[in-house]
Amino acid sequence: MSASTSILILLSSALCVGKGASRALSAPTRVRLTSYNMDLVLRWDAPEDSSGLSYETQYNTTQSKYRGGCVKSSALTCDLTSLHGSITVYGMYTGRVRALRGSESSDWVESQQITMDRNTVIGPPFVSLISNGASIEASIKDPVFRISDLRAVYNYATYNITYWKKGQQEKARSIENLQQNRVVLHMLEPWTHYCVQVQIHTKQNPSPSEPSSSVCESTADEEESPWVAAVVTFVVMAMVVAMVVVAVVYRKRLSNFLCPQDSLQQYLKEYLMEPPTSSIFLDMRTSPPQEEVFHPVSIVTDSRAEEEQHPPEAGEANCAGRAEHTEKGTR
Ligand SMILES: *[C@@H]1O[C@H](CO)[C@@H](O)[C@H](O)[C@H]1NC(C)=O
Repeated sequence: MSASTSILILLSSALCVGKGASRALSAPTRVRLTSYNMDLVLRWDAPEDSSGLSYETQYNTTQSKYRGGCVKSSALTCDLTSLHGSITVYGMYTGRVRALRGSESSDWVESQQITMDRNTVIGPPFVSLISNGASIEASIKDPVFRISDLRAVYNYATYNITYWKKGQQEKARSIENLQQNRVVLHMLEPWTHYCVQVQIHTKQNPSPSEPSSSVCESTADEEESPWVAAVVTFVVMAMVVAMVVVAVVYRKRLSNFLCPQDSLQQYLKEYLMEPPTSSIFLDMRTSPPQEEVFHPVSIVTDSRAEEEQHPPEAGEANCAGRAEHTEKGTR
């Protein structure tokens, strides 16, 4: 009985001594483990008497013992994101910190535990607007994570897009559960300023992202809508297609029309190489050149000769005939 009592007294006095020794330094306060866009940072406030203090930090996961973070740093934060290899996006972490001065040290003060994908604060997305006639197209860029990226961590991330006429935010409209990072806001009034703000919602993380900064853009006239451009484009395309079809179908005729030399030459060649069929031409080619036969003829008008029924011959012929006559007569 007395032995156990003395052991108890010894133990409690030892505990008291231990406590007393570590109480020599007051510990940091408000120790919290934070995560923003998948980083992991331990933060704390300095104790009252903080002159000459430095701090030692450690962190653990559910699977491992405490391991070293920042050592002998006077800063009031310690970035644990990439100290020992890498933290994981679904990991659960706890941090702790103690103050140091010379050989003295304060008690360790533990932070709350955080689960990265549930508790990280998702930063604001980045939104840009393009005015297109009476509609506005919004493009959304996810915040950049320190480890992994938003779409890899949160498969079911959606956007909540809120838009309003400038100066009338109380009448804002919202498009919720949007998965695409581009959206066209229709049914807007022409020549009006609209402002857009976007938040990201996930299934794992109970808090939506920080809202994007609101960006504003003015719509233009409805007439300037992309319909005109679309129709013009369509007509031009249709014409081009029609021309191509015609060109393909009438390819031969077209090429005959456009570059006729080839076929014309061929046609001429064929025509010229053909054996001649005209008989006159053939005769002309085969017969020797003919002598031109001619008789000089003089015409003498004589009424008596006409009566004799013997047309008078030409003068010389007459003479020749008379000569013949005389020759016969002399024989
Ligand atoms: C989307 O944002 C609007 C404006 O902030 C808010 O009123 C609405 O509740 C949000 N929707 C969801 C699903 O959180």
